[in-house]
Amino acid sequence: MTVLLPPTDAGYARAAALLRAGGLVAIPTETVYGLAGNAADDRAVASIYTAKARPSFNPLIVHVADRAALDPLVEVSCEAGALAAAFWPGPLTLVLPMKSGAPVSPLVSAGLSTLAVRLPAHPVARALLRAFGGGLAAPSANPSGRISPTTAKHVMAGLAGRIDAVLDGGACVVGVESTIVGFDAGRAIILRAGGVATEDLARVLGYRPEQRKDGAAISAPGQLSSHYAPRGRVRLEARSVQEGEVLLGFGAMACDLNLSVRGDLAEAAANLFRHFHTLDERRVAHIAVAPVPEVGLGVAINDRLRRAAAPRPD
Ligand code: TXA
Ligand code: MG
Repeated sequence: MTVLLPPTDAGYARAAALLRAGGLVAIPTETVYGLAGNAADDRAVASIYTAKARPSFNPLIVHVADRAALDPLVEVSCEAGALAAAFWPGPLTLVLPMKSGAPVSPLVSAGLSTLAVRLPAHPVARALLRAFGGGLAAPSANPSGRISPTTAKHVMAGLAGRIDAVLDGGACVVGVESTIVGFDAGRAIILRAGGVATEDLARVLGYRPEQRKDGAAISAPGQLSSHYAPRGRVRLEARSVQEGEVLLGFGAMACDLNLSVRGDLAEAAANLFRHFHTLDERRVAHIAVAPVPEVGLGVAINDRLRRAAAPRPD
């Protein structure tokens, strides 16, 4: 049985107790809901992989309440510190060298010498992290390969019966996952486009970080090409609708669902997975998607759209 917990002191206490006992609790963050387990507990982390049916080579992000909680976990370089100061709490994940003896299950990093860490901004996530008092490993709270959840209801639809609880914090405001930044010889590299735009990273770094291509040596191993996929087939850059298709629009146009009538990319990001979930609920088989500009958050949106449209193993 999966219980729905309210974002109250009693809800946080119950969620923290479940986590301390090795249970799994889905939590709201500003990006998407995460499936949280105690990062230091091998059994809890193993059960995250099982609940999601996630390939075990794919490492997890550790979420913490504050910068001090990172001290035992990772080495923070000057550049990483500058990004942290600028964007935390917020939709940024940093991949940093793990300290020896870090209190983290080896399953979290899937054998890598680096650890992905994030300080989320969502007040409910932060309240729970404080109540729990340690690091929480949390991938997006969806069955592996499916659409990330942006409401408690999405989480329930995918994982009810497989996890202990969902902490309900309403709809996620950013709507796409965090931007993941790693470092190669001291230079920042974007491993996954996400809620912090490249232009904003560039302002802090003083240079525009490169986007790591799939299959390159340092990459986010979870970036399987088919991912974030609704059940229907997805056709991109659609300028008109073909017979049998439902049109997912962007900007003022005639369409079935619109990412943002105003053509606002932040609004489109917040709506993207919600609309995918709606299309799944309506059992739509063919989805045409209007072009979305490749700037700002449009980079993360187009990344998710391309993965949704990629050839599938099934
Ligand atoms: O917004 C988010 O980042 C959400 C919320 C819940 O925080 N989490 C999320 O987690 O999207 P997940 O597990 O779905 O995606 C994490 C990505 C994966 O692609 C994984 O391969 C990559 O981070 N990753 C984790 N640890 C890594 C590491 N040490 N080096 C490179 N990539 C890493
Ligand atoms: Mg995910």
